[in-house]
Amino acid sequence: MKIFLQTYGCQMANRDSEVIIGFLIKEGYKIVDDDKKADVVIFNTCSVRQHAEDRVFSAIGACHAKIIGVAGCMANNYREAIFKKAPSVDFVIGTRDINKIPKIIKEIEKHKKNKQDKKISETDAKFREDEIYHTGYHLTKDHAFVVISEGCENYCSYCIVPYVRGKFRSRSPEEIIKEIKDDIGAGISRITLLGQNVNQYKSNIDFKDLLYMVNKVEGLKQFDFMTSHPKDAIYALFKTMAECDKLIKHLHLPVQSGSNRILKSMNRGYTKEHYLGLVKKYRDIVKGGVISTDIIVGFPGETEEDFKETYDLVKKVKFNKAYIFKYSPRPHTKALNFVDDVPKQEKERRHGLILDLQREISKKK
Ligand code: 5AD
Ligand code: SF4
Repeated sequence: MKIFLQTYGCQMANRDSEVIIGFLIKEGYKIVDDDKKADVVIFNTCSVRQHAEDRVFSAIGACHAKIIGVAGCMANNYREAIFKKAPSVDFVIGTRDINKIPKIIKEIEKHKKNKQDKKISETDAKFREDEIYHTGYHLTKDHAFVVISEGCENYCSYCIVPYVRGKFRSRSPEEIIKEIKDDIGAGISRITLLGQNVNQYKSNIDFKDLLYMVNKVEGLKQFDFMTSHPKDAIYALFKTMAECDKLIKHLHLPVQSGSNRILKSMNRGYTKEHYLGLVKKYRDIVKGGVISTDIIVGFPGETEEDFKETYDLVKKVKFNKAYIFKYSPRPHTKALNFVDDVPKQEKERRHGLILDLQREISKKK
């Protein structure tokens, strides 16, 4: 059986794809780089905005593989309902169920041989077995992503992640360090520690201690981490960042909005003033530190005044990079009950204005 896997979404989704491929190779499957040559096409998907899901649905529509599977966030978002929306899909596999893929493919293949149409959905696992992270498969040669925590329980009111990726869990430092050492043994010298909110990392040690520990790993040349949450990023973290000589001085610190009213409605747990204070401290402590952010425009109830506050914050902070998103109502979330009252055209105008401003800033930097 030849398998092709198509990834949509963030770094976490990309790492999940490596994990899936590594696992399939271990089970004896052949991975191909062209969907037309594949017997099985798996879409590893993203649900963070509607646009991401629309792209997947149209790609599924254009796919003629014998067996089609949907993995990732959309699998947990839709579960069996995906079979109605996309009847050509044969199986749905949740973000914590990926180790079941080989068994499911075999089962579907058996039914196809008997000309039976069998649909399988597995989306209920509560956590991942750590062994799936240790197959050693990487898409890039000299850099690797290492998951340190899974899931999220922050429930920002616009965000689907807690509903599709489940409860927050930290991997043990031993498993993390083992994975990093194996990566180094395979010739990788740069790594990125990944988590929805790395600052919440908590095992027998906390995130700062994990950074010191990783910094000491022999053979590792450089590392960084993402994503940080302003409500949990603390000054002590910046001191650690300054002290770890192998750590890339980059902080991805999504602000989402510059209006306190909107931040409250987003359930972000900090104010604009707190955020600006963090940026100042970061720049004081981590000399030459780079900072990037995420921003959502057109959140329900965002007035011109609220938007201007975000615009002014971007102007003031002068981020090295900013990712700007138009608010997209998501199922399960609290904000779905708010009226999506900023018209599409207005979202586009606000999006364009901040994008232009950031382009100017990035150019000057
Ligand atoms: N609409 C628009 N952008 C969103 N993000 C998360 N959920 C939504 C949504 N419903 C953005 C946030 C987050 C980034 C990964 O995606 O800015 O930080
Ligand atoms: Fe979503 Fe907020 Fe969790 Fe980030 S911290 S994944 S924005 S709920």
